[in-house]
Amino acid sequence: MSIWHGLIDSDYRRWLPVTRDTPAISLNEGNTPLLRSAHLSELTGCEVWLKVEGANPTGSFKDRGMTVAISRAAERGAESVICASTGNTSASAAAYAARAGMTAAVLVPKGGVAPVKLAQGVRYGARVVEIDGTFDDCLRVARELAGHHPVALVNSVGNELRLAGQRTVAYEIVDALGDAPDVHCLPVGNGGNITATWGGYRTYADAGLATRLPRMWGFQAAGSAPLVHGAPVADPQTAASAIRIGNPATWDGAIAAREESGGLIAAVTDEQIFAAYRMLARRDGVFAEPASAAGVAGLLDQHARGRLEPGLRIVITISGNGLKDLDASLHDGYTPAETSAAAADVARVLRLAA
Ligand code: F0G
Repeated sequence: MSIWHGLIDSDYRRWLPVTRDTPAISLNEGNTPLLRSAHLSELTGCEVWLKVEGANPTGSFKDRGMTVAISRAAERGAESVICASTGNTSASAAAYAARAGMTAAVLVPKGGVAPVKLAQGVRYGARVVEIDGTFDDCLRVARELAGHHPVALVNSVGNELRLAGQRTVAYEIVDALGDAPDVHCLPVGNGGNITATWGGYRTYADAGLATRLPRMWGFQAAGSAPLVHGAPVADPQTAASAIRIGNPATWDGAIAAREESGGLIAAVTDEQIFAAYRMLARRDGVFAEPASAAGVAGLLDQHARGRLEPGLRIVITISGNGLKDLDASLHDGYTPAETSAAAADVARVLRLAA
């Protein structure tokens, strides 16, 4: 059995923009579970698979790109990095920077990030700055600072390395299933991941490693759906904070993924997102953060609208771990039973048959 050492030291290395001189700064990201969902398959009449990206080292798909971005920054001798984030990019940047011996500065929208994600950044030793503004404001400031100071920007905008790393999710899926699926569903915020995932499928097809390409189905939260409306949203709203983004940096890439694949980018309500969030945990044993359930919400919405042909093979990116957003979980019906430490009392509370 071969042992997994992370993306840069895997067979996927040849698809990554690294050289012999690039040090591998890795936390053994990638190689995440691809689980068949019996429940979603039954509901939709399709063959539905979940790509569980919350199993990455810092709990989201961001680690795939960050290993490449930070490794290349280390190769250049960078000492500090900066990024804007709704929480997951910052957690990942902070962890990989720590591993590389760099300092990280992360800019997040004040009050707009799940506290555990802030705690990750702080614990990994990053300088975390809460900005009075949106994610889009944070990104504008991060780009400006990287332009004028000796700090490397590790957002995917202006850093193709991140997207090259994120492409590996498609390689893993094709290698596991033997070919590309018919449809790939995923949440969309800044637009990087749909662009990268589509790019990964294209890379494999161009190399003859897949015989076909999937339709890319991206889903935004209804209150933060600029790509659906075709115009930026000044004051984006959604309880799925990871995708609360009004002006996606990789706008053109996301639209190109939709157009080239014959796919769609549609909106799902927070109610649909939270229903999918509960269902994933309850029926599949997969605890995702709310934003990460948007792909499931979207698939069910398309099915309800009669737009899903039965028999398709579908993969859904479950982008981040549910442990990252405990507030969302605790506010969504958390009612443990209490009793004394007597077996009879516990049996009564559990309504165990005599
Ligand atoms: N799912 C999760 C859990 C995310 O954190 C993000 C983006 C997305 C989906 C959307 O991916 O932006 O490439 O379209 N999070 C970024 C961040 C914005 O700062 O962590 P996208």
